[in-house]
Amino acid sequence: MNYNCLIIVESIYNNNTMKLARAMAQTLGCLLISVDQALTMDLNSYQTIGLGSGIYFGRHHPKIFEIVEKFNFVEQNVFIFSSRGNPFLGKYHKPLKNALLDKNKKIMAEFSVCGYDETGPWVIIGGGHKGKPNEKDLRKAVRFIQKEMPQYCMPDYYLQIKNKQPIREGLTNFYCYNTNGTSVLLCGDRVTFNHNNCNGCGKCAKVCPLEIIHIEKNKALSKNELDCTLCRLCVINCNQRAINLHYSWLDSIKVAKRHSKRTSLYLKQCK
Ligand SMILES: Cc1cc2nc3c(=O)[nH]c(=O)nc-3n(C[C@H](O)[C@H](O)[C@H](O)COP(=O)(O)O)c2cc1C
Repeated sequence: MNYNCLIIVESIYNNNTMKLARAMAQTLGCLLISVDQALTMDLNSYQTIGLGSGIYFGRHHPKIFEIVEKFNFVEQNVFIFSSRGNPFLGKYHKPLKNALLDKNKKIMAEFSVCGYDETGPWVIIGGGHKGKPNEKDLRKAVRFIQKEMPQYCMPDYYLQIKNKQPIREGLTNFYCYNTNGTSVLLCGDRVTFNHNNCNGCGKCAKVCPLEIIHIEKNKALSKNELDCTLCRLCVINCNQRAINLHYSWLDSIKVAKRHSKRTSLYLKQCK
């Protein structure tokens, strides 16, 4: 878990900004919280804070300004992001930037994309920017983080492992990766758990639609990762950023083939 960074988001309309925030938090391996949660926390220990929301009447959500109001004058880096209905960003970020500068914050970067909007004139055509932010926008958000703050990005240690074992039915491979004198225990190939980060909270096991994850000795493990449909619910719900999925396009096709005869989410009901 990256305790240097924190992302605070207020996404009230279509979850558009939330999608960007999730991609960013995943890349940084940091906590993603709402303003209400942030208001109860001590934010001084974070070196870098991301602040994002939709644009409503030409500026960020008022709650984002509320949290800035709570900021102390300690030197901190802040990056700001948004989604908006207007094709052009214009001066939408300016009020937030000014509020941050008043609090002695360094604005390190800013990011904005269009998001689905069905307000005002957009109603005439049944909504604008349909499907946005889309996969391409989310990749842009990831690249933004990688470019602007590479020092904070969460490395995927699994990619560094040289001798990977084949995935076997019902069995899990374990790997030990040494980095800067620390050994990181990784478990699983398709669904890889970083056991140094996993705190055994069990959220991943609860949300997995196929119930392939279980908790053993306070750590998450997958029972049969070949059954994983790559839905990403475990990844999205892991606050510790302890889970990564690894697959090729061929693997994704194999997933569809594997479940082609399945007729229910529950195995018992499949004939
Ligand atoms: C009440 C309201 C006011 C909005 N005002 C603006 C605006 O001034 N400029 C703009 O570009 N988009 C505006 N939008 C569109 C949103 O910024 C856009 O849909 C955004 O992606 C919503 O983000 P969210 O789903 O994270 O809340 C407005 C949307 C709502 C609901």
